[in-house]
Amino acid sequence: MNISSSKNISESVTWVGKWTFVLAAAGSAVGLGNIWGFSYKVGEAGGSAFVLIYLGCILVVGLPIMMAEIMIGRYSQHSPVSAMKKAAIDSGKSGYWQSVGWTGLFSGVLILSFYSVLAGICINYIGIAAMPNTDISSFEQYAQVTGSPSTLFFWHSIFIGMNIAIIASGVIAGIERMVRLLMPILFILMIVMLINAMINGDFNAGLAYLFTPDFSKVNPETFLSAMGQAFFSLSLGMGSIMCYGSYMRKSEDIFKTSLTVAGLDTLIAILAGLAIFPMIFAYGMEPQQGTGLVFKSLLTIFIEMPLGNIIGPAFFMLLSIAALSSAISLLEPSVAYFEENNIFSRSAAAIILGLIIWFVGIGSILSLNSWENEYFLGERNFMDSIIYLTFNILMPLGGMLVAIFAGWFFKPRLAMEELSAANVNIFKTWRFFIKFVSPVLVASVFIYQLLG
Ligand code: PFF
Repeated sequence: MNISSSKNISESVTWVGKWTFVLAAAGSAVGLGNIWGFSYKVGEAGGSAFVLIYLGCILVVGLPIMMAEIMIGRYSQHSPVSAMKKAAIDSGKSGYWQSVGWTGLFSGVLILSFYSVLAGICINYIGIAAMPNTDISSFEQYAQVTGSPSTLFFWHSIFIGMNIAIIASGVIAGIERMVRLLMPILFILMIVMLINAMINGDFNAGLAYLFTPDFSKVNPETFLSAMGQAFFSLSLGMGSIMCYGSYMRKSEDIFKTSLTVAGLDTLIAILAGLAIFPMIFAYGMEPQQGTGLVFKSLLTIFIEMPLGNIIGPAFFMLLSIAALSSAISLLEPSVAYFEENNIFSRSAAAIILGLIIWFVGIGSILSLNSWENEYFLGERNFMDSIIYLTFNILMPLGGMLVAIFAGWFFKPRLAMEELSAANVNIFKTWRFFIKFVSPVLVASVFIYQLLG
């Protein structure tokens, strides 16, 4: 593949709006991971101690790696595979670094396959929360949804269809237009949910749960869980942010935008916690309920509370919008690759990849019912195997390799030029973290997991 002939800088796409990169990257970062994932992990890990460790992971590992991804993407103005190759070759290193990009594309496809099934359930719940079947409990309702392959299949197909349509419309007409519409709606819905928790929930109990430190609950698992969550939540290690970075204008400040995106992502995760836990406590539910927390407990609450048939659908709409703006960032890197190398047109690439992802997703659908006890990797069913493979192996591996590349192999002069708007101290601090701190921390978590 000849990078210079496939797409040159002058013909590369750039976001039109000044804030689009921040909106698009925040759209990618803010997703089911923040609202559904963060809340259930905080619940499992016992609250505040997890939140503090999570914040530490975001600052020490997430932020430097996010800056590295944006830097490499923007420097090379290509999709992740070609971006890694160009950045490596221009630094006098082997073009094999492109394998990091390939790992990213592969994990993006795998993640989207199960993400879409979960997002489909969220869309389905908009209607369920508007008109709940009060003859059965929320737990039975959830079992009914997940036990019906045809229902899951229907909503999974709708969700993948929306992704294909947005990505096929292009970076500007599809992604940019969508995030400019979706992100403000998401923010407003989040505030509505928060006000609701203040009025109808036990807000003090929620605050105490999220912010009173209880380090007796901390163990190595807490660090694993917090680091994995930080990676997933910031969309790192699979090329999404690198790809969006390749559309970023040269005049934008990478440090400030990364800080803004990481800040928004964390803010939304905490707001989601503040919207959810006060309700859980006010209605006497258990915070430790795993993945079913938002579907089972919250639905019960929406059924019981005043105006629940309006607040409930609004909440699931919030989840669905967050999921959609994240999902498009999982599809974009591979579509961009096929497009820039003239292998397929953008629309054809979106359709072909979308169909592959849709097909793989069927495995996750069946894992919720007839394949529940069919094991693939160890004693994990299909969906759990894909989650394990992406969360525990591919994402940390991708993030670690990006950090190692950016810290040890990418020419410091090129990195410095990309960070030019920032001052020398920021560059030096970034370089220290990306060279020594981030890769070592990710590697230790990674190795611990492999041994465990
Ligand atoms: N960050 C998204 C979330 O928190 O739900 C998930 C995600 C999107 C992960 C895009 C990775 C990615 F590339």
